[in-house]
Amino acid sequence: MLAPERRGPPAVDKTSYLLSTYDIPVPRYTSYPTAPHFTPHFGPGDFAREIAAIPADEASLYVHLPFCQSLCWYCGCSMKVARDIDAMAAYGDAVCHEIAMVSGLLGRRQKVSTVHFGGGTPTWGPRKSRAGIMRAIRESFDLNADAEIALEADPRTITDELASELADLGINRVSLGVQDFDADVQKAINRVQPFHMVERAVTALRRVGIDRINLDLMCGLPLQTTETIEKTVDLALQLAPQRIALFGYAHVPWMKKHQRLLERHPLPSAAERYGLFAAAQARIQARGFIQIGIDHFAAPTDDLTKASVQNALNRNFQGYTTDSSQVLLGFGASAISALSTAYAQNDADIETYKKRISNGALATSRGRLLTVEDLRRRALIMDLMCRYAVVVPPDIAEGAAAALEPLLRDGLCHWENGSVLRMTADGRPWVRVVAACFDAYYQPSAARHARAV
Ligand SMILES: C[S@@+](CC[C@H](N)C(=O)[O-])C[C@H]1O[C@@H](n2cnc3c(N)ncnc32)[C@H](O)[C@@H]1O
Ligand code: SF4
Repeated sequence: MLAPERRGPPAVDKTSYLLSTYDIPVPRYTSYPTAPHFTPHFGPGDFAREIAAIPADEASLYVHLPFCQSLCWYCGCSMKVARDIDAMAAYGDAVCHEIAMVSGLLGRRQKVSTVHFGGGTPTWGPRKSRAGIMRAIRESFDLNADAEIALEADPRTITDELASELADLGINRVSLGVQDFDADVQKAINRVQPFHMVERAVTALRRVGIDRINLDLMCGLPLQTTETIEKTVDLALQLAPQRIALFGYAHVPWMKKHQRLLERHPLPSAAERYGLFAAAQARIQARGFIQIGIDHFAAPTDDLTKASVQNALNRNFQGYTTDSSQVLLGFGASAISALSTAYAQNDADIETYKKRISNGALATSRGRLLTVEDLRRRALIMDLMCRYAVVVPPDIAEGAAAALEPLLRDGLCHWENGSVLRMTADGRPWVRVVAACFDAYYQPSAARHARAV
């Protein structure tokens, strides 16, 4: 990673040194192996075989609803702007069929502890799709009485009527996409939603009893300054959320061409991004929120904080979670299922997805069977991402020694008792760089990921 003769960070301006050395493209490690290493050789037959072998323990479900009312220029999600109600309803029907198909392959009503509706915008599109999907889930699965049923929502779509609908469906946690409250930043990212609009959405949700509210903020956007992000954080805190996600903007225009539209204004430099995150982080923590992993914050009484304190935090495609299921079944275009034996991803093209499901086939287009070695490294990397410390088996430590050496020397992590690798307080923002040392598939020269901070 570094030339061996480097002598470590100079005493002054350690942050600049770390930024110039370690702000490299690294995965976010929401899975291991990461999605670019899924292969098209893993198809529907493979997934069907793996589904049949899933143990009867509790599973989690993810449902992808890809439609949005308009395009946010920063968006890195798998989404499509859509207004055709019939087309969106047909997609909802396909998801219902897929749920029934997968349940048939399981051959039982699998217990389910968590359902997550992600997008795109699950609150955009016909009401009957959400109702139909929820019905299909309840028919096919054995949903725990206290199951968390979470949904990602765009505040611009939330009316009193929609809030009531969500409560009737049993939704009990909502993440609202806020990103930034500054009017100029909002214009620069094509996501205009003044504070009062988000406040109204939060009030509508609380009025119907949905009081587990998460807010998504982002740093690294054009025109953001320390001042604007602090103001955004203050306004977000005024809404008294249980959790705040502070995502670093992932600029990947080679994958998401529309992100070029964001380049009309200069993007913050690495040092500026770091400063923006640090400013927002300090403001959120000053209000008593506890940082969870790299980009989440939760109230001290929140389940995520408790899970973190009890070393029970987990990480999946939605980020940090209290969910401890070993099986995540993904439904909808682009959705990924994560099993203890494999990953399987559905075709991301909505029409192809619908066609395959309507032909009675699974829509798996990529995936990967996990080897014993993958499982060892997956557990290690997830532990590191969630707990900032991990027991490293001697053979893996030996293989990672050269890559780890500069990181150890620069004080980002250190060994305890010879086998526990622990991130230092200064090193925590760089945990993905340390995790990459244990990633057998990571090739720095070929890596096309967002930057480390
Ligand atoms: C599916 S969206 C949330 C629901 C809804 N579509 C919305 O935007 O309000 C999930 C979240 O991903 C985050 N996100 C989207 N694109 C991103 C990117 N390029 N980098 C980092 N975070 C991103 C945003 O914070 C967004 O709120
Ligand atoms: S951020 Fe949300 S609303 Fe905006 S385009 Fe992406 S998925 Fe759609």
